[in-house]
Amino acid sequence: MSRDAQKKLAAEKALEYVEDGTVVGVGTGSTVAFFIDGLARMKGRIEGAVSSSEQSTRQLKSHGIPVFDLNAVGPLKLYVDGADECDPYNRLIKGGGAALTREKIIAEASERFICIIDEAKQVEVLGQFPLPVEVIPMARSLVARRIVELGGQPVWREGVTTDNGNWILDVHHWRITDPVGLEAKLNQIVGVVACGLFAARPADDVIINGQVRVVAR
Ligand code: A5P
Repeated sequence: MSRDAQKKLAAEKALEYVEDGTVVGVGTGSTVAFFIDGLARMKGRIEGAVSSSEQSTRQLKSHGIPVFDLNAVGPLKLYVDGADECDPYNRLIKGGGAALTREKIIAEASERFICIIDEAKQVEVLGQFPLPVEVIPMARSLVARRIVELGGQPVWREGVTTDNGNWILDVHHWRITDPVGLEAKLNQIVGVVACGLFAARPADDVIINGQVRVVAR
C-alpha cells in the first residue's frame, strides 16, 4: 500500500472516534489533510474544530467547518494529529510542519489524543528525524549553544517563521533514549517555546494501517 493510501486509511479509522455534537482538535500535515476531508462529511453532526495551524484552518474553512479559539471552548474530547516519528510507547517527534507548539497545546487540552501515521514513521528509538525546537527569534543562538551542550546538533530552519512568529531549530543525529527527560531539559532552556518531543504527554492511541495501538501506562 502506498504511503498516501496508508495515511488515508488511518485518517478514515480516526473518524470513527469523532462524536456528534463535539468540537474536534485538529492537527497539521498531509495525514491530517485526509482527516479534514473526511470530517467534511460529518459537517452537520459536529460543532466544529480547534485548529493547530493556519494551514489546517484554511482547509477546515474551505469545507465550511467552523473553527473555534481554544479559549472559547475549553477542554476537548478528542485531538487527531499525525507525527514524524513514533516509538513503541506512542511517544512522538512532531513539528516537521513547524506547528508543534499549537499541536502540543491542543494535545494537552484534550482528553484523548489519537495519532495517525503510516508505517514509515515507526521507530524503536526516536531521533532519526531531526527534532524540531521552536525558539523566540532573539534566543536562537543562545538556545543552539545550550542544545550543543546537551549533545545535539541544531540547524536553523532558515526562512521558516512559525504561526506564532518564532523560528525553528532542527536537532540532528540525536539518539533519544530518554525522551521524557530530554523533553524536560529542553523545556527549561530560556528562549525555547516548545520542543517537538511528545513524551510526557504521548499519544493515547496510534493508528497504523487501520489498526489501533494502545499502550498501557
Ligand atoms: C506538523 O508540525 C507536524 O507535527 C505533523 O504532524 C507531522 O509533520 C506529520 O506530518 P505528515 O502527516 O505530513 O507526515
